Amino acid sequence: MGVPGPTPVPVFGNMFTMIRKGLVDIFPFWNKQYGKIYGIFMPMAPVLIISDLDLIKEVAIKKFQSFPNRQIPTAFKIKPWNTNLLALRDDQWKHVRGVLSPTFSSGKLKKMIPAIERVASNLVSNVTEKAKTGEMIELKEFCGCFAMDVIAGVVFGIQVDSLKDPKDPFVYHAYNVIFGRQWLQALYVTLPFLAILLSKIGLTYFPKESSDFFYNATEAALKERRQETEKFGDFLQLLVEAEKEQETQQEIDAEIDHRSHLHTSSQQTHKGLTPDEINSNVLLFFVGGYETVSTAMSYTLFCLAANPECLHKAQQEVDEKLGKKPADYSTANELVYLDMCLNEAMRMFTPAFLHTPEARAARHPCSFLPFGIGPRNCIGMRLGTAGASHGSGSCLTKSHSRAV
Ligand code: HEM
Repeated sequence: MGVPGPTPVPVFGNMFTMIRKGLVDIFPFWNKQYGKIYGIFMPMAPVLIISDLDLIKEVAIKKFQSFPNRQIPTAFKIKPWNTNLLALRDDQWKHVRGVLSPTFSSGKLKKMIPAIERVASNLVSNVTEKAKTGEMIELKEFCGCFAMDVIAGVVFGIQVDSLKDPKDPFVYHAYNVIFGRQWLQALYVTLPFLAILLSKIGLTYFPKESSDFFYNATEAALKERRQETEKFGDFLQLLVEAEKEQETQQEIDAEIDHRSHLHTSSQQTHKGLTPDEINSNVLLFFVGGYETVSTAMSYTLFCLAANPECLHKAQQEVDEKLGKKPADYSTANELVYLDMCLNEAMRMFTPAFLHTPEARAARHPCSFLPFGIGPRNCIGMRLGTAGASHGSGSCLTKSHSRAV
């Protein structure tokens, strides 16, 4: 078709080159060789790589109606994973995204902040304990436990301490869901049809007993919230409320709520979500929130530790803002410098001064997309940013961190 690109091998396409060179290096390498638009092959699928910023904007925003779907990983084609936002296509995706978007808005996030704060203060006591004994911390694992506890608190209203209590059934099943059966991963990527066949005899990437555990936990939690005997500030409560609220009453957070652009071609027969759709998305929130939040947070802390000047500045800001009052939603917004560090860590690994609000406003909207852009962008961006910011901020209060 005249699209330039590296030569593929049968069945596996360019996958081996990607594994050999690593995902961080391979794309800049190919960009240099083939320019801003080129084609590669993944097993069973051709992929067009675009790094022209205007064209990205065209595809992700202006012509979104022609490009509403993403490639679905094999594990997400199999029940109960096949009805979440990542897996859904066309009208069903638009419907589910439309129902879920208001529950992730900045307004609704305020209700979730107390749960994040509880986990952040637990993180601080865990750090303090380790500091007393001089025990080393494996940062990624530590931040992973924080992300896990935040998701448990924010989605289910459950308090867990996955660092201290990894055998808690909730934590055990959540890790099963997040990591899946790693040894099946290569098969899922290279021979998807075989993976689907194996799933028919019960051998799935995500263990069924853990998916079932969350199906039952979600059903029970929803029942409780629908009876309205107690108010919970968690996602499931917000979902129950969203089902009842009239569209006009819902506040619109334009960055993640694109309902006005999501015109479905057919009428949806149900107003809210089906039990399968709810369960599938709850499972996705573990996968979508765990790795992203813990990676952003651990790189931020790592980079700050390696740059004492930046650490000092971030610490000063945190002490000024967090020291005075209990943290709330507005506190996270006041941590401007920490937010810059977080963004810089998400861009590469060294905090610098590139992400000031002014610099952000001045550059091309598609030049830095940690959460994607357009109607299919990250629905959890507010939650992810608040989680990583509160978590990193809590570790930075003066009494808990110093550069060595
Ligand atoms: C620092 C944290 C996070 C980062 C960097 C991040 C990044 C991303 C990116 C790059 C995408 C793809 C966007 C696109 O295709 O344009 C995405 C999608 C998504 N993310 Fe996140 N994410 C984060 C946190 C979260 C959290 C906390 C949740 C939920 C609890 C979440 C749920 C999702 C979902 C459901 C999608 C699919 C949206 C759809 O297709 O409609 N993310 N995220």
